[in-house]
Amino acid sequence: MTSPRDAGLKLIREHALIAGDVVTASKTIAVDDPATGETIGHVPDLGTLETERAIQAAHDAFGDWSTSDPHQRAAILRDWARLIDDNTEGLAALMSLENGKPFAEAKGEVTYANSFIKWFAGEAERLIGQTQDSPLGHVIVTFREAVGPCALITPWNFPAAMLTRKLGPAFAAGCTAVVKPASQTPFTAIALVELAYQAGVPTGALSVVTGDAATIGGVLTASPMIRKLSFTGSTPVGRKLAEQCAPTLKRLSMELGGAAPLIVFADADLDLAVAETIKGKFRNSGQTCVCPNRVYVEASVAEAYAEKLAAKVAELKVGNAFDDDVKVGPLIEDKAVDKVEAHLKALKGDGAKVLTGGDRHERGGRFFQPTVTLGGDDALLRREETFGPLVPVFAFDSEAEVLEKANDSDFGLASFVFTRDLDRAMRVARALENGIVGVNAGMVSTAVAPFGGVKQSGYGREGSTLGIDEYVDVKAVTLNLS
Ligand code: SIN
Repeated sequence: MTSPRDAGLKLIREHALIAGDVVTASKTIAVDDPATGETIGHVPDLGTLETERAIQAAHDAFGDWSTSDPHQRAAILRDWARLIDDNTEGLAALMSLENGKPFAEAKGEVTYANSFIKWFAGEAERLIGQTQDSPLGHVIVTFREAVGPCALITPWNFPAAMLTRKLGPAFAAGCTAVVKPASQTPFTAIALVELAYQAGVPTGALSVVTGDAATIGGVLTASPMIRKLSFTGSTPVGRKLAEQCAPTLKRLSMELGGAAPLIVFADADLDLAVAETIKGKFRNSGQTCVCPNRVYVEASVAEAYAEKLAAKVAELKVGNAFDDDVKVGPLIEDKAVDKVEAHLKALKGDGAKVLTGGDRHERGGRFFQPTVTLGGDDALLRREETFGPLVPVFAFDSEAEVLEKANDSDFGLASFVFTRDLDRAMRVARALENGIVGVNAGMVSTAVAPFGGVKQSGYGREGSTLGIDEYVDVKAVTLNLS
């Protein structure tokens, strides 16, 4: 019987796909397994010429694809979803290999990723315009039309879901796309694109280009043929891409960094708060932009919460993605471990107590112990996301104080509040400066909920009924029927 690891290795394709053509290069980029540091394969290090070729193909395919019957596009999306379902184990294993996430969690990501394709297949069938009487005596009819060829730049932390969260609505709307996956995790994207072709996506409508992010991003953003850019990644890179898109005034969706506050009031169900904190924080080993970055607990229950949390966190098994019952994997690269270490050092320097963990893991490499601290100064955590398995807990005294701290951040993606008082839950949820709020819930991500931030966490919404709007322009046709 093939092991999951072998099933993943079998899906590795060491080439890019431009308009359906296999593209290789003499210069390549190595992709490693973060658990071992071993190279699992290489992808071509492509540049300007290949990116331009992919853009031209997306441009040439746009006319037919954007005017195709949306029900036909929905059918293709559903076929793609079926193929993904059929290949869940292999795709999950591939993700575990290149990202390090526990295999069970990777299977969950395949399901999550596929939920965007299924959801947006339905949205393709609901690309509904409006009719309206005009004060000029005319009738106005609006059409929702595809924006144009899109550049989709995806991150390494959710190699499948961030791709489908963009491609699902893009295809539903009738857009064509050039995908640039993160260099750490390109194989999942290549495998998904191959399945999309098998499902009937026209080859010109979809390319995946591997290589240096700055070079490929530069060509994509400079091209007048690309009409929209959707990016998930860090705020500094998002800012740079937005600048580069300014001369051609592209539509932009920016899903950027976060520094999510999680607030626990004294009346909360502490066991629930602990369980949900763990769900939110340790997903992808703490490497999500909606992970709680700083936990504020009302002073009277801060120690009780922190001790309960530390006891549960100490039970989380750390290991290789394919080990049994593993809950926390390695971090993506060495510098990610350095950052967790630096944040922990700063907290300890400010007087925080380590309740569990507190060091690199004995497995070495990119593993870090799941860590809970209590006390210290939260200022650094308002400004920087740790992106690792560290939960810093701080005590607070009043609702006003905690709201001030929670909102004192340039970021505004996710936040969380735990309380049994519904009035307070709604008051705090409304006062939090974030695009997403979980009330008594640490997991907020689903295809049906709008996902996106405010402030320097970016703009635009993915998923939900709003997600397709990012890929359509509204055309108003005035009919003089008199
Ligand atoms: C992200 O971290 O970029 C996305 C996480 C999610 O979809 O929940």
